[in-house]
Amino acid sequence: MSEPSVTSRQSLRKSLRQARRALSADAQQRAAQALQQQLSEYLPSHTKQLAGYLASDGEISLLPTLSWCHQRGILTSLPVIHPFTGKHLLFQHFSHDTAMTRNRFNIEEPALDSTAIIELTAHDCLLMPLVGFDAKGNRLGMGGGFYDRTLAPLQQLRDGTPRPLLIGVAHDCQQVPVLPIEPWDIPLDVIITPTQCIEL
Ligand SMILES: Nc1ncnc2c1ncn2[C@@H]1O[C@H](COP(=O)(O)OP(=O)(O)O)[C@@H](O)[C@H]1O
Ligand SMILES: [Mg+2]
Repeated sequence: MSEPSVTSRQSLRKSLRQARRALSADAQQRAAQALQQQLSEYLPSHTKQLAGYLASDGEISLLPTLSWCHQRGILTSLPVIHPFTGKHLLFQHFSHDTAMTRNRFNIEEPALDSTAIIELTAHDCLLMPLVGFDAKGNRLGMGGGFYDRTLAPLQQLRDGTPRPLLIGVAHDCQQVPVLPIEPWDIPLDVIITPTQCIEL
């Protein structure tokens, strides 16, 4: 039998994923624009390299944000499932002419090109999608632990070593009063939604 916290995380994921999938195309578009506006005000002015994602499953879209980055000369990358471990993410350069493929979750990702991989610590900012969040900045993901596993080495870096700002992004309807968290969950620096900016 699974532990109660596992069960509640799973049932929360299910209802929160349903809620975001239920948003209309128009609501999604407005949310994506509002998020771009929020991020344009929040991102540090020195940002040169930003990791994003391509939305699926009702996630808030970063397309306006990625276009805004490209207009300003901010380089962008997207996650790619690690070809060897299958459990970690690599980040690969992304621009309008990047060859794309679909991974085992049917999510679009850049076709693997080892020359285009951007090291995690070479990023100034990393935007990651949330299934759920609370006002304390706890994050619930899709349940695969991909970001937790990939970001775990950052916890070992010495103070002062450059590391990306970890920014969770979500629709406002992904917020819950309290999230059950686990020891391996990596804390975020900030959560940004179309209407909120929760700094931690
Ligand atoms: N640093 C890590 N090393 C190994 N396994 C991990 C690590 N972080 C998370 N996991 C595994 O990933 C699984 C999913 O993690 P969870 O936090 O529930 O998912 P998500 O963050 O996607 O919501 C957990 O069963 C956990 O054991
Ligand atoms: Mg987690």
